Amino acid sequence: MSDGTQKLWGGRFTGETDPLMHLYNASLPYDYKMYKADLEGTKVYTAGLQKLGLLTETELAKIHEGLAEIKKEWDADKFVRHPNDEDIHTANERRLGELIGRDIAGKVHTGRSRNDQVVTDLRIYCRDIVNDTLFPALKGLVEVLIKRAEGEIDVLMPGYTHLQRAQPIRWSHWLSSYATYFTEDYKRLGQILHRLNQSPLGAGALAGHPYGIDREFLAEGLGFNSVIGNSLVAVSDRDFIVELMFWGTLFMNHISRFAEDLIIYCTAEFGFIQLSDAYSTGSSLMPQKKNADSLELLRGKSGRVFGDLTGFLMSLKGIPSTYDKDMQEDKEPLFDCLTTVEHSMLIATGVISTLTVNKEKMEAALTMDMLATDLADYLVRKGVPFRETHHISGECVATAERLGLSGIDKLTLEQYQKIDSRFGQD
Ligand code: ARG
Repeated sequence: MSDGTQKLWGGRFTGETDPLMHLYNASLPYDYKMYKADLEGTKVYTAGLQKLGLLTETELAKIHEGLAEIKKEWDADKFVRHPNDEDIHTANERRLGELIGRDIAGKVHTGRSRNDQVVTDLRIYCRDIVNDTLFPALKGLVEVLIKRAEGEIDVLMPGYTHLQRAQPIRWSHWLSSYATYFTEDYKRLGQILHRLNQSPLGAGALAGHPYGIDREFLAEGLGFNSVIGNSLVAVSDRDFIVELMFWGTLFMNHISRFAEDLIIYCTAEFGFIQLSDAYSTGSSLMPQKKNADSLELLRGKSGRVFGDLTGFLMSLKGIPSTYDKDMQEDKEPLFDCLTTVEHSMLIATGVISTLTVNKEKMEAALTMDMLATDLADYLVRKGVPFRETHHISGECVATAERLGLSGIDKLTLEQYQKIDSRFGQD
């Protein structure tokens, strides 16, 4: 008979687990984060068992009381872990046995496997993170970009291609370009959320439920929008994790480019913006330094999130159907990705809402040569083909350069007309 401190799967084993193997195998140090999802899953699952007549109403009530108590313990950071606890599922079940007695707690896993349990927890966990943290944080970032764009609509700056001055743009245009990227990220996340919110519960270890539990009932009770019909897929599909991490990677790609722009803009050479002290740090050696560490970290951490995705893809490829322990390797990169992404959103929001803009420096960087394309368009309006006007405008730039003038605006009308007689004629 188990005394509740043995491993929950220990029945067929006679030897002890190697101590390092226990640590190597244990996921509780990180999957405890899913405690709420795990308890919710068990609550609804046991209601399903009761519907089948596998639990009495009194037993169900006791189980639900026990689960509520365990949630309180986790919430208050008072849950006491047992050295034999392997993961969040076994830890919660062990504790339930201590609270309500192992005769009743021993029934909650009837027909369920940790294979459908873990992936149910993961899907609930991801859904909650998307709804409760990622959506609000991303919305906050977009809002702050739009607010600044509205407030500083009159600030002009050079727009760049190849990091060379290209054409004048509004600072607001730059701000709203990233608001656009992040809005697309928001929409893309909504699509992923819809796909991940499907129920694997009731699929058993792989081959389905021996008692025919009502899977629709379980899905509805847990707020899923549908049931994953194929039980093999239900337990072994981790595409939603890959998709979410790909999403995080793409978001961090946007954040990294955003950060890179701002790093350039706040150098002394550009001087377009200044970061607030809240998002900068100093140098331990050079007293004058103010470093844009927040931005460098946004850029640097993007690499780490890419690594989370590719690392897990490597673990996932080539594993045979259906559940294999390799899959436990989904959690650390996923959690790392989600936390890094959320924190990056909050840092980017703080950076944008507190930086100061040096309007004069931005405008001083606007040279008249940046209107060379407009000059070409001026002749287009007079009926000259663009290929020709492009060439003529280039000649104006070259002439000004040859004459040692600071820009095309310094050429006289006569000099213009010498290049092309159609200048100045209506
Ligand atoms: N801790 C495991 C994981 O994260 C739970 C599933 C274990 N299932 C099993 N059959 N050993 O994937």
